[in-house]
Amino acid sequence: MHRLTNRNILLGITGGIAAYKSAELTRALVGAGANVRIVLTAAGAEFITPLTLQALSGNPVHQSLLDPEAEQGMGHIELARWADLILIAPASADFMARLSHGMANDLLTTLCLASDAPICVAPAMNQAMWRDPRTQENAQRLAAQGVHLWGPGAGEQACGDVGPGRMLEPAELVQLAAEAFGEPRLKGLRVCITAGPTREALDPVRYISNHSSGKMGYALAAAAAKAGAEVVLISGPVSLETPAGVQRVNVETAEQMLVAALELAPSSDIFIGAAAVADYRPVAVADQKIKKGQEELMELRLVKNPDIIASVSALPERPFTVGFAAETENVLSHARSKLQRKNLDLVIANDVSQSGIGFNADENEVTLVSTAGDFKLPRDSKHSLAQTLIEQIAKQMSTNEH
Ligand code: C5P
Repeated sequence: MHRLTNRNILLGITGGIAAYKSAELTRALVGAGANVRIVLTAAGAEFITPLTLQALSGNPVHQSLLDPEAEQGMGHIELARWADLILIAPASADFMARLSHGMANDLLTTLCLASDAPICVAPAMNQAMWRDPRTQENAQRLAAQGVHLWGPGAGEQACGDVGPGRMLEPAELVQLAAEAFGEPRLKGLRVCITAGPTREALDPVRYISNHSSGKMGYALAAAAAKAGAEVVLISGPVSLETPAGVQRVNVETAEQMLVAALELAPSSDIFIGAAAVADYRPVAVADQKIKKGQEELMELRLVKNPDIIASVSALPERPFTVGFAAETENVLSHARSKLQRKNLDLVIANDVSQSGIGFNADENEVTLVSTAGDFKLPRDSKHSLAQTLIEQIAKQMSTNEH
């Protein structure tokens, strides 16, 4: 059970008779080396006392969102950041309904929204409630949102019914929690990512560029590093902090980005082109600032930039190569043709004509396009989408021969 040593587990306990087993679960998690903090909902507190849970976890139990005293200690945002894993056991039908709809009307649901940690839910309810189409719909929605559903098991229930809806046993939940911290998916692999815009100088003071913020590429770099990879980020000019554990190489122009990419790609296992590379650059860069003349029209002569990702995928020993297709129309057909034309393994397609996603936004909504087919991911923050994308890349890589 060493995989749980020093892991921060936020255990949410909602209202259900299985809450009595959460005491044993707390004990088992602490016994396996985890740091456990408990959030008890109002309904949960009808089944088990905070005192029991405090004694077993060794930490004060969190019960209210709007408690000034609690906020003085570990406030809800701190708690959300603290967690490496959020486990809700037992999870009632009501809690699942609220979580699946993104509600934040108590401390536990708020923490789930505010945290980037994986959320694992151990449903526990009467078999008819579990089978109810509304609960099933909520469970499916949660799964589609990336929430892990652990259980329920089937068997005899506290109410006398027999069927699905039993919370998994504490020992099983501890085992699943340990597995959730299994070997990082990209351990031992090298990942090279391009991010941000490029700047193509016209003269010493002017340049051609675009609105790329670099957020998606940076989020991917952070997620890859978290997944255990050795990450190098080739970055155009952006105002973002380098993610922890990531090596950053700063470049300005597409040609500089190409040089860095061709140097790093051959020793990389994965190459992700998230940069918005300028398609053209001025034929020549003026030595001095270009002066305003009498003429109304000014012509710029541009020359095509090299295609960085296509150059990488043309390498004899090429990494698993992932590109982006930011399009304003016919998104999927453009993405498919990019997959072929640039000889990529995977294209992450997004519609940048939609407001609130894509360029310069904090959210994105993408479809993965590969020879295996299309796979649409729900709209999400770039941060959490990056984790899903890294998971998917790792998965596809292991099924491809590279
Ligand atoms: O051709 P387009 O710019 O739409 O292709 C997008 C994908 O190709 C992105 O992954 C982008 O990083 C990459 N790209 C590149 N070098 C270029 C143009 C695009 O690596 N010159």
